[in-house]
Amino acid sequence: MNLYVWGTGCGAGDLADQGLDLSRVCAFLDSAPVSDSFLGRPVLRPEEVKSGDIDLILVASRHVETIAQKAASLGIAAEKLVFLKNNWALTDRNRDYAAAEAVLDPQYLDSVRAPQVAVRDPLWVSDSPLTPRDLENDYVRTRTLEALCRELDDIPGAAAELGVYRGGFARCINALLPERTLYLFDTFEGFDPAEAEHEAAGFVQAHRNTGVGRVLRLMPHPEKVVIRRGLFPASLEGLEGRFALVSLDVDLEESTLAGLRWFYPRLNPGGFLLMHDYNSPRLPGVKRALRRYEAACGRRLPGVPLCDGNGTLVLCKTDEADRK
Ligand SMILES: C[S@@+](CC[C@H](N)C(=O)[O-])C[C@H]1O[C@@H](n2cnc3c(N)ncnc32)[C@H](O)[C@@H]1O
Repeated sequence: MNLYVWGTGCGAGDLADQGLDLSRVCAFLDSAPVSDSFLGRPVLRPEEVKSGDIDLILVASRHVETIAQKAASLGIAAEKLVFLKNNWALTDRNRDYAAAEAVLDPQYLDSVRAPQVAVRDPLWVSDSPLTPRDLENDYVRTRTLEALCRELDDIPGAAAELGVYRGGFARCINALLPERTLYLFDTFEGFDPAEAEHEAAGFVQAHRNTGVGRVLRLMPHPEKVVIRRGLFPASLEGLEGRFALVSLDVDLEESTLAGLRWFYPRLNPGGFLLMHDYNSPRLPGVKRALRRYEAACGRRLPGVPLCDGNGTLVLCKTDEADRK
């Protein structure tokens, strides 16, 4: 079987960690490849593969509609694609799961086939700067960010993201807060190897697949973006400032704790700090980091958990007593 995997990001890394036999994969497909190999297999642009040579493409990206359209424009038959990140689409795009059954772990495939959850745009959405592609990533997370940003009008301070990866969420912050400086902290080459040494290989390698240029090209207001490249907290290097909105998304415990220690005291009252993965069973270190930080503060911090894809917690700064 001529099997391809569309995507070289976290979804593709997951697939390897879920036991997909990589020796069966002819190539990974990526419209904007960062390197020419991923997990030991070649990376090709979709245009480089003849549609007749494809038996099955496992689509390991959340950009379902974008990829469906691209595949159609290349003459790839819809039934050759199985979308693995199909969960909140209004309809199940997959025509047939039988081909995927031959290569994927049945339990994993069950999670792909899980009942669909339809989400319609809320009534308050109008003249939004977000695009359908922004929303493809995680509808609830992204629209919640939009609602939070609408609450920040009279809250001073910059915006920041610690843990940027390819900039998908940072792009939304930049679009929603066009007047604010946006600090982006990341190594742009993945996790601290020492901190990630016990993490799965696909997860670790997928996060290396990015770059500063790629992230900046995605930003609608790049002139407002300040890149802080390197391992946090060393990458702070003399930075001071106050913040209205912080996205903390570094997945692992020690880096999350370092982020809380630095950002939470610098968050202005009325501001928000979004802790991605707080309720993710896959990344338990995020919640542990918050509990450790709270223990040091001597109290629980006020926050609202979201029902988004990875269980974000929104910490809501209430008053200056929160400054510790
Ligand atoms: C899950 S990704 C971020 C995803 C991004 N927020 C989004 O929603 O598109 C986690 C990122 O954290 C970065 N990271 C983890 N620990 C770090 C540290 N100590 N310093 C800098 N970057 C770190 C990794 O390089 C990786 O790009």
